[in-house]
Amino acid sequence: MLATPLPGGLFFGLDPGAARKAACPCGYPTAPAALIVPSCTSSKQKISSAQPKSFYESRFSIYDTPMINLKVNGKQLNLDVDPDTPLLWVLRETLALTGTKYGCGMALCGACTVHLNGEAIRSCVKRVADAAGKEITTIEGLALDLSHPLQKAWIEVDVPQCGYCQSGQIMSAAVLLSENPAPTDNDIDEAMTGNICRCGTYSRVRQAIHRAAEMKRSTT
Ligand code: FES
Ligand code: FES
Repeated sequence: MLATPLPGGLFFGLDPGAARKAACPCGYPTAPAALIVPSCTSSKQKISSAQPKSFYESRFSIYDTPMINLKVNGKQLNLDVDPDTPLLWVLRETLALTGTKYGCGMALCGACTVHLNGEAIRSCVKRVADAAGKEITTIEGLALDLSHPLQKAWIEVDVPQCGYCQSGQIMSAAVLLSENPAPTDNDIDEAMTGNICRCGTYSRVRQAIHRAAEMKRSTT
């Protein structure tokens, strides 16, 4: 199947393989299997001079960006993702870490809470590029064997109802306990105020945080 050349070295056609071969006289190595592929650096330079930059930047900027280096749950990863992608979508869609949930997408509900360098952040509004080079921990990285005091307390108190908000609740609670080993009810309410639970499990969340704090203190 023929690929149709477009100005400046880009090809648009129905056969990505043919387009790749035809579009890469200098051997651009790993163009993705998409119907529109970039050709090579030299072609991109030709594009810049032949066309207004904003036209191509707005459509193909993903191909011009460097790899993003992330450390997630202790693993170093190099990812080919758009730097403006919310961290939440990289975690869920690119890395299949689906324990972190999408609720509002506006930093209002806390369902997407993860740790960035030990702080609780809303991953739905954090650009992945702004998380590069920092330590990211998701609910999957808290403790694989359910040995974290919060995990044990959550099970003991039987906190979740539908469960949707619970990974965010636990991630926020983990930061609270790392900063305050004996939180009062007020401390808990204040720290957890941004984590919404539609099922109203707040009193059990509070109870489980107290229980986890007790467990943590007894082992230190
Ligand atoms: S999904 Fe991020 S705060 Fe609601
Ligand atoms: S357990 Fe259902 S939203 Fe919190």
